[in-house]
Amino acid sequence: MSFRRLHPEQPDSFAFTPENLAWAKEVIARYPEGRQASAVIPLLMRAQEQNGGWVSEPMIRYIAEMLDMRPIRVLEVATFYTQFQLQPVGRKAHIWVCGTTPCRLRGAEELIKVCKKRIAEKAHQISDDGDFSWEEVECLGACSNAPMIQIGEVVYEDLTAERFEEILDAIAAAEGPEEWPQPGPQNGRKSSEPLGDLTSLTDESLFEKGSDAEALIAAALKGGKGAVKVKGGTKAKGTAGTKSTREASATRKPTEKASEASANKKESAGKKAAAIPAVTEGAADSRQAGQAGAGKGDETAAPLHGLLDAEALKTVSTPAAETVEKAAPKEPKLFDKPPAQIDDLKLISGVGPKLEKLLHSLGIYTFAQVASWGAAEIKWVDDRLKFKGRIVRDKWVEQAAALALGGEEEYIRRFGKKPR
Ligand code: FES
Repeated sequence: MSFRRLHPEQPDSFAFTPENLAWAKEVIARYPEGRQASAVIPLLMRAQEQNGGWVSEPMIRYIAEMLDMRPIRVLEVATFYTQFQLQPVGRKAHIWVCGTTPCRLRGAEELIKVCKKRIAEKAHQISDDGDFSWEEVECLGACSNAPMIQIGEVVYEDLTAERFEEILDAIAAAEGPEEWPQPGPQNGRKSSEPLGDLTSLTDESLFEKGSDAEALIAAALKGGKGAVKVKGGTKAKGTAGTKSTREASATRKPTEKASEASANKKESAGKKAAAIPAVTEGAADSRQAGQAGAGKGDETAAPLHGLLDAEALKTVSTPAAETVEKAAPKEPKLFDKPPAQIDDLKLISGVGPKLEKLLHSLGIYTFAQVASWGAAEIKWVDDRLKFKGRIVRDKWVEQAAALALGGEEEYIRRFGKKPR
């Protein structure tokens, strides 16, 4: 544990803004009489936020007085919990790099080298441009996605030194956190599942004909709601135990079964797709399922909202960066003026208000438009963005497909979190 001391240079005073003061009073009032000290952590957090990311000595005295505490008690809290910074931090981001064993074994050392090279040689020093600072911290609880960093509430996992540098570039260029790269795993994983094929439950004998495990899997493949207990073991509900299903299941490899089960899950979650008009003929790009009457400026071109049918929306993926790099740019389908139905493109992580305006100025207004982009269209749009490569890196196409297919519900199902 390192020493945590107040910074030698301190401001003269601190006071909450009127809005924060009103908020603080409301928080304090939540606690029973005599227990107001319980509000010390939320108040310190809000004060730190107001003060550009660090806790000052006048702030500690100010909060102590508000909560009728001795200043030393507030100081104890501020120095104990590492979410409180005791010295000025970078304007845009203070970066925590996990340096505990799993992250260390997976490359944290390289991330620390990037911090030293890009930000400052020593932890807690601020970069020359004032934008960044960093420190090494203990395990942040994302060891299965090591190595990782955290910035405030945002976590970037499965990092390489190169990807970390790209994230720093993106944050430096962004107007605000809403334009930061998509958080979470940076290597294509959705959470902490294995990157390759199955590594467990691969023993075929687990899936023998007529076994309980086989019956349960057959139930899942059939979209059954699970299993019921019957005498002598567990049996799948309904039609799960039919001969043909059992035989089919028993002859497939576990990996095939897993992907089929996942496809079934997607199908049931994607029922909302029926609301999206499906256009299926005549696309120049094989990923675009059709454009009949959907030309630029065609006001009757409502099908722009249905550039891809529901099936296609379930499976679209963003092309690899190298593929986009090699592609010849091709103008995607654009609107000349805003269509009757405009989607909130800011729900796509990585698109902030400024970027949304830019997309609108290009004629891009809907999730379906973004979801329909292949490598050539991405190249065309990318060439017009101030920060190239972010469409691929932030997986705009998958995000937009989920939002077009089933809104927030589908987005949460696929990405495990709410869209912005
Ligand atoms: S060791 Fe780095 S998150 Fe746990």
